[in-house]
Amino acid sequence: MTVRIGLLGFGTIGSSVYALIEKEHDAILEATGVDLRVGKILEIDLSKAGVAAPAELFTSDFESIMADPQIGIVVELIGGIDWAFRYVEESLRRGKNVVTANKQLLANKGAALFQLAKDEGRQIRFEASVGGAIPVIKVMRESMIAADLHTVYGIVNGTTNYILTAMYRGEGDYLDTLARAQQLGYAEADPTADVAGHDAAAKMAILASIAYHSRVTMADVAREGIEKITAGDVQYAKDLGYVIKLIGAARLIDGRVNVRVHPTLVPAAHPLASINGSYNAVYLRGHAIDEIMLTGPGAGGIPTASAVVSDIVSIASTKTAGFLQNCSCYKVLDFLPDDEVVSTFFIRVRVEDRAGVLARIASAFGEHDVSIESMLQKNRGTTPSWCSSPTPREREASSRLSTRSPACRW
Ligand SMILES: NC(=O)c1ccc[n+]([C@@H]2O[C@H](COP(=O)([O-])OP(=O)(O)OC[C@H]3O[C@@H](n4cnc5c(N)ncnc54)[C@H](OP(=O)(O)O)[C@@H]3O)[C@@H](O)[C@H]2O)c1
Repeated sequence: MTVRIGLLGFGTIGSSVYALIEKEHDAILEATGVDLRVGKILEIDLSKAGVAAPAELFTSDFESIMADPQIGIVVELIGGIDWAFRYVEESLRRGKNVVTANKQLLANKGAALFQLAKDEGRQIRFEASVGGAIPVIKVMRESMIAADLHTVYGIVNGTTNYILTAMYRGEGDYLDTLARAQQLGYAEADPTADVAGHDAAAKMAILASIAYHSRVTMADVAREGIEKITAGDVQYAKDLGYVIKLIGAARLIDGRVNVRVHPTLVPAAHPLASINGSYNAVYLRGHAIDEIMLTGPGAGGIPTASAVVSDIVSIASTKTAGFLQNCSCYKVLDFLPDDEVVSTFFIRVRVEDRAGVLARIASAFGEHDVSIESMLQKNRGTTPSWCSSPTPREREASSRLSTRSPACRW
């Protein structure tokens, strides 16, 4: 069976998808019977035509892809929201299935697109939108359909994980390590989307929607980035036995959903603490599965392209678009407001070197029913760090990581 795709965008991922399809064509044909071809490539920058793919495949006319009856799958890899939304919407209306790696598109406009796909009997596949090469979407939707998930923790942004790993290794403060990440191509010239947590928030909205079968959008995710984390914070955390990570946490608590992204103190022995550099990981807990962690390269051309190509082959091998192929948001769950979430905190205080100061701080905590689990005072007159202890309810709660920013775990 010959399957022709229309590729939108020939940047990092688009060109890698083309290269991977060329390289793996025969193996995919042998394994699945799908004769995968790139029919057309839509690209603004036509200077790319003929460099890594034949010039005759390139077009700047989207309509020519829509009008081609041989193209059954549109692969959106231009990024951004506006044009991507227009193209994906039009593709679905014109009877094409869609594969996308665009988390911003889905986290902001997913409801409309999935509804349209359902109405049109088409599929939207989006494995590469979270975790790059890690097959987390398919595993959550299919393999974990009966897992009764209640907790999803993710290290889903490679840039921030690279920076925090370098800081943990003592390679510099936030700005030094960010500059190095930019030199090495791990961070954009404008790193805001990554370091402020927007990228991770979009990915967590997608993961939470799948885990709990209820729509979560970007606007529902509380977010804090890593810009204020200092080498001092990282060192204190280390001394207390923790690693600071930008954690996305999506939890189902008493039937309500809470999704947040913020720097978190992860115990050094927790599996997420060992995810270093630009790697990503998704750690899942469910009543039926206890815990499972998936990890791998979270970005990059060929790793991400492998997830895109897998989605294309899945569509080509699926006759009907069942709910597993589109969003399975058949529930409408309430959100648990952030101020109702119980957690532990890491508190760093600068105090004057005067007798009785620490006792007064401890007493102030006590008056507000906050107990202190551990305390570290490094130098005279500098910065003691505190970990508040969990309440009995927190201990009971099955979450294994605290999810306040930055927080201690018990
Ligand atoms: N890079 C990764 O590691 C990674 C990982 C996972 C997911 N993703 C997602 O994959 C998507 C693509 O990312 P990327 O890194 O490949 O981006 P990219 O390198 O910027 O590629 C996008 C390409 O699309 C072109 N383009 C932009 N708007 C267009 C339009 N309206 N019509 C036609 N062509 C257009 C761009 O041309 P110009 O350059 O001339 O603007 C560029 O060649 C994004 O949604 C991203 O979030 C990326």
